[in-house]
Amino acid sequence: MRFNKKTIRDIPVEGQTVILRADYNVPIEDGKIRDDYRIKKSLETIEYLLDRKCRIVIISHLGRPGGKADASFSLAPVAKRLTELLHQSVDFIDECVGEKVSRFVQNMPHESVVLLENLRFHSEEKKDDYGFASRLAKDTGARYFIQDGFGVVHRAHASTDAITHFIPAVSGLLLEKEVNTITSSMENPERPLVAIIGGAKISDKIDVISRFVEKADKILIGGAMANTFLKKKGYNLGKSKVEDDQNDIIDKIYDLAKQKLKNDDISDFIILPEDVAVGKNIDDQNREVVALDNIKDDDMVLDIGYKTIEKYCSEIEKAKTVVWNGTLGYAENRNFSHGSARAALSIASTPGLKSVIGGGDTANFVLHWDGHGGKSFDHISTGGGASLELMSGQKLPGVVALLEK
Ligand code: 3PG
Repeated sequence: MRFNKKTIRDIPVEGQTVILRADYNVPIEDGKIRDDYRIKKSLETIEYLLDRKCRIVIISHLGRPGGKADASFSLAPVAKRLTELLHQSVDFIDECVGEKVSRFVQNMPHESVVLLENLRFHSEEKKDDYGFASRLAKDTGARYFIQDGFGVVHRAHASTDAITHFIPAVSGLLLEKEVNTITSSMENPERPLVAIIGGAKISDKIDVISRFVEKADKILIGGAMANTFLKKKGYNLGKSKVEDDQNDIIDKIYDLAKQKLKNDDISDFIILPEDVAVGKNIDDQNREVVALDNIKDDDMVLDIGYKTIEKYCSEIEKAKTVVWNGTLGYAENRNFSHGSARAALSIASTPGLKSVIGGGDTANFVLHWDGHGGKSFDHISTGGGASLELMSGQKLPGVVALLEK
């Protein structure tokens, strides 16, 4: 998807009231935000609009409250965090449509920000309901709609799609950067392009794997997904997570790869683990590295082994672009995060290597590993499903709906 949409730079936004759609679907426990990466990444657009004296009405969803108000899914803690990050007070309204909203917005001074309550407290949001979208637009009286919630643009909801039928809709700076960076690293990468694919399921990632077969120079497979490939090759995987119904899919992936390479031997293109780290369960504190033909019946494969780590890191260090989607092991347990940590280290320490990290689990892992807000990487996406769909070459409804340049 080439980014040919209007952005906030293309409209006379000075002094206007705008609706800004962000993705503040962040983990909150006991009112405390556990990870504010998405909030921090939304600041650039907010600051741009504040510099231009806008009244900014921010809307977002949080979690899946099922179309009804539920205090545990309130966005109130996000308003507090925004206040700290922007060094200016951000008001919070416990509704997203209705009179309370319109009265408040009418009285907002220029250069001010308000966050409205969770859109998904209304079932109409997920139904892409035009009536609800028109109320969002009318009750705020906004002149423009700005889409900057990259994490949610793969959904066609009232606040990503229907609303664009009521007021002129353009992109924010985060959305533009996400789409441009991910698209160019897939379509026009500096080569070699190495794709790292992990995570639990092949079935979730079939489209992105097929696209990597088309675009990448090497594909490194890890995570529980690698188990399914290894099982098909005839190895005993013990108690490991394996998808037994994916053999036809793997055959299709291999056929695509063979066609591309014009060679039946694709083992140096789609690269699988040569050894693995096993435990007896996911919480096991012992990490044992074994050869593929040494996996016992009561073993669970939870990470790639040391030979594989060396091999994968050497491929990463030869790359000019790396796109990474899915951790290489069960990284929630530190003993099985070695593969992902070494891949992160190789990416971060290879000069001249451009790195694009998919959102969700991979982003969480590298942000935690990095500890400095992700500075070791060129781009850490704020979108999980959205980055996966974009990497797969799919159109994102929340982007399609915006005004063309
Ligand atoms: C995400 O976290 O992936 C987005 O906010 C979308 O959330 P959803 O999967 O509940 O639609």
